Amino acid sequence: MNPAEVLEKARQERYRAEEQEALQRRGDLRQMKRLLRYLRPRRKQVAIAVLFSVLIAILTPLPMVIIKEAIDVYIMPGNYGGLAMMAGLLLLSAIVIFFLEKTSHYMIAKIGQQTMRDLRQEVFSHIQSQPLRFFDRNPVGRLITRVTSDVNVLNELFAQGVVGIFQQSFSLVVILGVLFFFNWQLTLLILPIIPLIALASWNFRNNVFVSYRLTRVRLSRLNTFMQENITGMRTVQANTREDPQFRLFDELNRAHRDAHIKTVFQYALFFPIVEVVTTLGLAIVVWQGGRMFLAEEAALAGAVTVGQLALFVQALERFFQPVKDLSEKYNIVQSAIAASERLFVLLDTKPTIVDPEQPVQPGVGAGRIEFRDVWFAYNPGEWVLKGVSFTAEQGQTIAIVGPTGSGKTTLMALLCRFYDIQKGEILVDGVDVRDMRQADLREKIAIVMQDVFLFHGTVAGNVRLGRDSITDERIAEVCERTGFDNVVRRLPSGYESGVKERGATLSTGEKQLLSFARALAFDPQILVLDEATANIDTQSEEQLQRAVATLCAGRTSLVIAHRLSTIQRAHKILVIHHGHLVEEGTHQELLRRGGLYRRLYDLQYREQAAG
Ligand SMILES: Nc1ncnc2c1ncn2[C@@H]1O[C@H](COP(=O)(O)OP(=O)(O)O)[C@@H](O)[C@H]1O
Ligand SMILES: [Mg+2]
Repeated sequence: MNPAEVLEKARQERYRAEEQEALQRRGDLRQMKRLLRYLRPRRKQVAIAVLFSVLIAILTPLPMVIIKEAIDVYIMPGNYGGLAMMAGLLLLSAIVIFFLEKTSHYMIAKIGQQTMRDLRQEVFSHIQSQPLRFFDRNPVGRLITRVTSDVNVLNELFAQGVVGIFQQSFSLVVILGVLFFFNWQLTLLILPIIPLIALASWNFRNNVFVSYRLTRVRLSRLNTFMQENITGMRTVQANTREDPQFRLFDELNRAHRDAHIKTVFQYALFFPIVEVVTTLGLAIVVWQGGRMFLAEEAALAGAVTVGQLALFVQALERFFQPVKDLSEKYNIVQSAIAASERLFVLLDTKPTIVDPEQPVQPGVGAGRIEFRDVWFAYNPGEWVLKGVSFTAEQGQTIAIVGPTGSGKTTLMALLCRFYDIQKGEILVDGVDVRDMRQADLREKIAIVMQDVFLFHGTVAGNVRLGRDSITDERIAEVCERTGFDNVVRRLPSGYESGVKERGATLSTGEKQLLSFARALAFDPQILVLDEATANIDTQSEEQLQRAVATLCAGRTSLVIAHRLSTIQRAHKILVIHHGHLVEEGTHQELLRRGGLYRRLYDLQYREQAAG
């Protein structure tokens, strides 16, 4: 087999395993108990909704009974007098049922929506409380699905499922009771069709469960594929991968269609079967009921009235509606249980980085940083930082250099406590970062990274980032001081111009300038620049230097930089290699030393120095 075939086989295997897994998991009713807890804050409304459902179920046979009475008491004996009243009663019962149904539908939908809102709030705030390590492991798409579609499936369960199933089952029993009450002999005769329906719906549910699950798995596969291909369209087109990707898409698309057609087939089979069985019941009523009415045999004489026959015909036609509905709802219940399992797994993931119970107020100092023998690994045993110690005095600018992958970005992330270290201590103004509230710590620090994230909104909104205390004048000031105002001037509506994360209205370098302005507006005690100048073109070198100098002035700054000019200005340079702090000193000291810094300088910076 060539490598392509091996890959292809692995892919098919993975798909099969995914589908198998989806089919094996059947809902665990214990999940339902936990779900019902979400109804607790609204238990009064739920009680009323349930009460209404009971009323509706009890009233369902009322119109049929009125018609029966009209036939037996008025029409057959030739009594004109009461007909208008019976017609009036019929209308009245319809009106009562209408109001009950309207109210209960509305109430149930409202309960469902409010519960969904609560649940979404809970899931979102839970996601927010997770440390970055969590996001390293959970793809964005998966988390979005939790908050949107999984919650929606639960809504279907709340809105139609729980109360609907209850009402339907109850009305089935009520109708049967009414039939028994008026004519138990005829009722006994039609009872044998019930096992037939039970068998058919059991079979339907099993088959439709399989195809329905397959449809869902394949649909989500299709979605993931679409998402990846749209996001990565630039890469696809640049490498002319359109045709192979299109063929893969076609394959996924077909698989989804086939599963869906199977689902449709199950419905196409089941509903007519219900009709046939209903007709079977009607045939029994016509045949046996008719014989009872005609009273050929003395024992049966007068055992049935015309009104009763009419009642049975109407009841039979209504009788299996609940069966149909219940079978359809089986899927809702199943997928809701699956969705709730996934939601609960998410909600049960405890944040691994938490605030201390008795947080220490950060000291009055203004940004002294100390790393003491810091050891850190993203994955157990794979040390990324190995015993790093250094101090940055208040107001100093510290440059950090080292080859790609040596652990520079990790150092910054640890300072912000995005991850917890395994050994050692990180102190900010003399307090261990684990002893402060995360909010207090991060209040002191502004980070500017190579990839700048812009939120959908305006330029000004992206500088302000929700801090209402930052005035428009302040925004204009910081933009001017960082040189971003030159960019803003070119934009159609200045500070009110719209930006989008993927809208590409700003170049990467321009976005970095924006994030400089963001940091300056924030005015932190500690500033972290992680290759924040990598994408700003060299024409604006001088301006850039000024911007960086403005940013660093008066605060402790850790700067990971590619640019010699930035490094030269630093009070101290730390050289990181394979997670070790190998050299430390000023530019001149390190050059004289002739170690790793010297080599990096010769490789990367000398050109810049010359140019
Ligand atoms: N989120 C992460 N999970 C696991 N490993 C990571 C993660 N981020 C970085 N690493 C690894 O840690 C090492 C240091 O990475 P990083 O600090 O980003 O290096 P630098 O910024 O110096 O290029 C690299 O080997 C990298 O693969
Ligand atoms: Mg990095």
